Amino acid sequence: MSDRLDIGAVKSLKVDVISETGWFDDARFKQDMADYGGSEQTQYRIAWHRENAGGYAALLTITLLDGDEKKILLDTGWNTDWMDEAFARQGVDKMLERGEIDFMVLSHWHLDHFWGIESTLKHNPRLKLYAPSTWRAEDRILLMQKGNIRVEDSNGRSVSICKNNVPHEGDLILTETQGEDGSGLYRLLPGVALRMFDASMLLQVRGENVLYVNVADKGIVTVTGCGHPGIMNLLGFARDNLAGPGLYGCYGGLHLSIFDTWKPEFDHIIDEVKALGMAKMGCNHCTGWMWAEKAESHGVPIIKGTDAYLSYSKRSTGARGSHAFLGNGDSVTF
Ligand SMILES: [Fe+2]
Ligand SMILES: [Fe+2]
Repeated sequence: MSDRLDIGAVKSLKVDVISETGWFDDARFKQDMADYGGSEQTQYRIAWHRENAGGYAALLTITLLDGDEKKILLDTGWNTDWMDEAFARQGVDKMLERGEIDFMVLSHWHLDHFWGIESTLKHNPRLKLYAPSTWRAEDRILLMQKGNIRVEDSNGRSVSICKNNVPHEGDLILTETQGEDGSGLYRLLPGVALRMFDASMLLQVRGENVLYVNVADKGIVTVTGCGHPGIMNLLGFARDNLAGPGLYGCYGGLHLSIFDTWKPEFDHIIDEVKALGMAKMGCNHCTGWMWAEKAESHGVPIIKGTDAYLSYSKRSTGARGSHAFLGNGDSVTF
């Protein structure tokens, strides 16, 4: 298969879960959408309850074949108070200040992945950033122009829903589906590639960046924010197009039984994922606890989380005792 794309290889990949709790209460989140126009409304027209906002962010530590270590921040969460706490707990703030984080990848422009951008930029406004080219005017204002976006709530009061006092000053690479050279990929580091999938998603957001890391002698690890383009599409791309010893694992939100509602297709996805023969599957965020638990009971190698999340100041009302999610404060090494 000489036409496969060779992205090189790394020695290992460690993922630290900085925060996977995009919000804490599903019912509150759904009600906020319903009250201001539903899931087809833009996220910038909804007076979200701030106390329900958390955020998604992960720290990727990559050991290259020569032993050199690189760090990538994947996403920056939503609520800046929450993200400040999460970053401080795991030393991400200091890593940013010392220049130890090489760049940030924004998976997509959803509020729970992007609106916490100030928590990152206040420690390093010059951080290099990869983000989908499918951004909207409000995304740009929030990132680059000291945005403070306000909406009218149901009582007619003007409320701030997101702000960023630290404009981004570093390199910004707006990713497109054709990749940096027509191959469909951006080669970020030896053994690490990014692909932008142009999918439409709720709240009028489009486009998601997905990371592929080839761990030497093991195989490809797929790393997602939300997995909106469909987890089988994302894993299938790696299986069909990337050179390497096959698929080894995945980490991130898989956008399946979000809000804990079940669809028959989720059973098929369990079978399809199992048939890929991966060794390690770490999931959380919008995967849905139901899917993770059911997949595990059907033999998918779900990596168990710990109770580390209990020491955080807030936790998801949907968290269960099964440890089927890698929770806040957990880590996994591929
Ligand atoms: Fe999300
Ligand atoms: Fe999302």
